Amino acid sequence: MSTFRVALKKTVDDSYEIEVGRDLAGKLAEDLKRGLAGGCRRFALITDSNVEKLYAEAIRDKLLEAGFEGEIFAFPAGEKNKTRETKAALEDRMLEAGYRRDCFVLAVGGGVVSDLAGFLAGTYGRGVPFINYATTLLAAADASVGGKTAVDTPLATNLIGLFNQPKKVYIDIDCWSTLHAREISSGLAETVKHACLADEAFFEYLEAHMDGILQNEPKACERMAQWNCEIKYQVVMKDEREAGLREVLNLGHTVGRAIETLSEYRLLHGEAVSIGLTAACALSVQMGYMTEEEKDRVRDLLVRAGLPVGIPGYIDREALVQKLYTDKKVRNGRLRFVIPKGIGEIVEFRPGVFAEEISENTARQIIMEMDPRA
Ligand SMILES: NC(=O)c1ccc[n+]([C@@H]2O[C@H](COP(=O)([O-])OP(=O)(O)OC[C@H]3O[C@@H](n4cnc5c(N)ncnc54)[C@H](O)[C@@H]3O)[C@@H](O)[C@H]2O)c1
Repeated sequence: MSTFRVALKKTVDDSYEIEVGRDLAGKLAEDLKRGLAGGCRRFALITDSNVEKLYAEAIRDKLLEAGFEGEIFAFPAGEKNKTRETKAALEDRMLEAGYRRDCFVLAVGGGVVSDLAGFLAGTYGRGVPFINYATTLLAAADASVGGKTAVDTPLATNLIGLFNQPKKVYIDIDCWSTLHAREISSGLAETVKHACLADEAFFEYLEAHMDGILQNEPKACERMAQWNCEIKYQVVMKDEREAGLREVLNLGHTVGRAIETLSEYRLLHGEAVSIGLTAACALSVQMGYMTEEEKDRVRDLLVRAGLPVGIPGYIDREALVQKLYTDKKVRNGRLRFVIPKGIGEIVEFRPGVFAEEISENTARQIIMEMDPRA
């Protein structure tokens, strides 16, 4: 028997820019001319069936005018299509169209598109560069930044994927003007979550500007988008691979992801997170980390943002308790929750540990006591 050691230490610089602004397609074309995607001149623009007509075609035309080659690969919109099957179908179409390793992937759309396209880019030809052009508030607030990519399976959301950082993220606030009110609210859930976990001043800003944000008031929307990115960046920079601190971004997602799957995606991701955040606050009050008044402030802000804070009648609450076990924070078969500490902080249970074991009975009690959805 013999052993051969493969010495392979890596130094990686995955730094990238996030640009927040309006009508950024021209800027994207300029950046690409300056070498944003390395030497690649052929793009695969991945988008969904709604965004294709709204924005993707104009972006494609801009890139063709700038001398790049490429085409659109669209898939039917909706969370239920964020699957391995959709990824495989897109890959087959790209292979048939002759795409090889010398291409880059441009994701144009919301979080479903960026999660799926980012995952695809990470495995296509063992990895090609990808760029995110975020068109929803939720993608701007959360999904497009941080390098987590994934697809859903029938069991649960986001369990299959990879860490894959984009070359650049464009957050085009103009695109929010065509979003349905429910989609705006959905993005605001991740925004309120960020404020709750990291910054009371941001929470106060949202309380003061919620009405303007809901009316797409430019200054407030831009400030909010920047604030969201700063918070996510601060966390991801310190813990890209979710060894500890990054778990704080899971606030509200233990119940949130479970209820999102159980609702069979009748609830939007942010709506599910809003319900999950409400549950995490109730748990925090029970554990003595938050006052009733603070819990009510969070609830009021979520309601003002147009979000649900109760459990829909069609959800079987006992099934919800059991679904909690599909959460990726589960360790050795035990449920773990991220718990807010007042507003603007997360409880650090031990140095570097931000999620705590919670007994099934406690989780059940919180879920059973939650309001029915109005
Ligand atoms: N990777 C991460 O870190 C991360 C973080 C949070 C959420 N997510 C994922 O993000 C997804 C949710 O994101 P989402 O809410 O953006 O969903 P989405 O991509 O499905 O977009 C929501 C809907 O809006 C449409 N749409 C997109 N842009 C539009 C526009 N400008 N005008 C009109 N309609 C538009 C889409 O076609 C879709 O019907 C979930 O899959 C969730 O798991 C990922």
